[in-house]
Amino acid sequence: MDFKGRSLLTLKDYTPDEIAYLLDLSAKLKDMKKKGVATDWYHGKNIALIFEKTSTRTRCAFEVAAHDLGLGSTYLDPSGSQIGKKESIADTAKVLGRMYEGIEYRGFGQEIVEELARHAGVPVWNGLTNEYHPTQVLADLLTVRENFGDLRGIKLVYLGDARFNMGNSLMVGCTKMGMHFVACAPKKYFPDAGLVSLCGEYAKASGGSASFTESLDEALVGADVVYTDVWVSMGEPDHVWEERIKELTPYKVTGAAMAKAKPGAIFLHCLPSFHDLDTKIGAEMGQRFGVKDMEVTDEVFLSPASKVFDEAENRMHTIKAVIAATLGDMKI
Ligand code: CP
Ligand code: NVA
Repeated sequence: MDFKGRSLLTLKDYTPDEIAYLLDLSAKLKDMKKKGVATDWYHGKNIALIFEKTSTRTRCAFEVAAHDLGLGSTYLDPSGSQIGKKESIADTAKVLGRMYEGIEYRGFGQEIVEELARHAGVPVWNGLTNEYHPTQVLADLLTVRENFGDLRGIKLVYLGDARFNMGNSLMVGCTKMGMHFVACAPKKYFPDAGLVSLCGEYAKASGGSASFTESLDEALVGADVVYTDVWVSMGEPDHVWEERIKELTPYKVTGAAMAKAKPGAIFLHCLPSFHDLDTKIGAEMGQRFGVKDMEVTDEVFLSPASKVFDEAENRMHTIKAVIAATLGDMKI
């Protein structure tokens, strides 16, 4: 399987076999890391990390992965470059492509990361756009596989706003891999019809499915994985909090919701999470709307069923696999 020179902009561009290969490679690199086996195959090469939105996991995962692979890395923060303000994406891509072997981009519209990839001449990795978060879903799939041994036939229920990056990307990843994806929310939060129809095709080929319901009982019966994300994503206006809290509170992941899932079901969340009020925004929402948590209760977040920190760790192993596969010439 040859990934050399390819970008990762969305999992739509990768076949199920290619995704499975990346997960196998991630597991191998994770094992090598645990055993202290060196993987620093890329001395003398460098990657650029562009973040137009903030990050903890994705940035750290790229930086640690780069370091473990022997790569140098340059972090460009949301305000510290000319991108978009004084220099176009196309020009930025051409400049960075002369200095770096690969470019990570986190930002707003998917069309920006696609434009970057068209002009860079080196692999571009999507570290989150409004529409997609493919490296997150690779970590999610690895975590599901670690817990259940296989992906085929696993039922993953996504509670909350399924129209944004996480709902979209999970639907793509699950339907490609023979899983049953269910989005559970009020209808207006269901994903875009065009993407739903494309994922229907993936599901037909893989034996998986994608379905949508407003009923928690219907969604959660037989669920192996219960997944949620924040109700307001980066870049959305502050005023949407009120309607999201009102409309999505019935879809919060609570102990009662988990009890409707299969015994042994796990809870996943891409993080960061508002499972308590110990953050600036959490405390502000607590004051404004009288809530003590948002998309998930503290009880579920901290329960043995919650695998969110394994999932966060897996960001690094999966991102390392993506970098190594697309740079090519791995020494394994
Ligand atoms: N899950 C995720 O992408 O986290 P960060 O925003 O911290 O990178
Ligand atoms: N939907 C969230 C994901 C964060 C990792 C956001 O875009 O802010």
